[in-house]
Amino acid sequence: MRLVSTTMIVALSTCRLFAFNTPRQIARRSSSKLLPPRLVDVANSVIRVAETTASFSPPTIVDIGCDHCLLVGHLSFPSNPLLSTPLVAIDSSPSALSGGRDLMDKIKIISEGKNSPVELMCGDGLSPLFHNEISSSNIVLSISGMGVSTMKKILTEGALQRLSAIHNIVLQPTNTKPRNMQLIYDHLTSLKFRPRDERFFYDDRRFYITTTFQKTDNDEPAVLGSFLYDTERTRQIYEKYTKFHEEWSRKIKEKI
Ligand SMILES: C[S@@+](CC[C@H](N)C(=O)[O-])C[C@H]1O[C@@H](n2cnc3c(N)ncnc32)[C@H](O)[C@@H]1O
Repeated sequence: MRLVSTTMIVALSTCRLFAFNTPRQIARRSSSKLLPPRLVDVANSVIRVAETTASFSPPTIVDIGCDHCLLVGHLSFPSNPLLSTPLVAIDSSPSALSGGRDLMDKIKIISEGKNSPVELMCGDGLSPLFHNEISSSNIVLSISGMGVSTMKKILTEGALQRLSAIHNIVLQPTNTKPRNMQLIYDHLTSLKFRPRDERFFYDDRRFYITTTFQKTDNDEPAVLGSFLYDTERTRQIYEKYTKFHEEWSRKIKEKI
């Protein structure tokens, strides 16, 4: 329910952004106005990993479950440092993609066609990439706004082996209880993807955790919090998160 209302608020604020401003006024604003605050962490993680790996191979960014393409829309703005990086947005819902196509058309007008190339694909998880070859050997994948079990279904061993160009994965699941987070950490570490960055964000009484996983040779388990992004703000939110869940599990145990 909360997710539905958050999506509606984002959609409404996007409509407002485009309804009451001329393209030139919008272009002058930061494209981060497109994003709900929690997605700013995803965007920044994707930008950081794409920038740091660009010397190894030019990156292509793929967002799975893109919905109305707010993330790739933000990344495609000429004001973003990733300009000209190819962007791919995938969703299983044709109507979500149709909203995304409208947004991308508007961004193209606003940025006078100087935005990054964006390709929209309809399909389940990574499957559209099996049929549409991506020339980059450095795919940065992002998945946000889904539960960990859906993420695990998308990030299967077979799919990741087949798409060996995926070297980095940025995840922001909707269910951030420690045991859920551990499920996705265990799954990805068993497939030799290890956390290399974690960001914690607290908004509207919800925690959002954005983790970047990097392909390695190492399949040792990793726990949440061991690669905390080292800022005072993040550390404070992490402490709040652990305290909240300690109290929550104590209350559950008391009830048993
Ligand atoms: C709640 S929205 C999240 C949108 C955006 N990523 C965000 O974080 O705000 C979830 C989106 O994922 C899509 N989705 C769910 N399962 C999917 C799958 N297996 N493959 C592709 N898209 C999927 C849905 O259609 C929906 O548009």
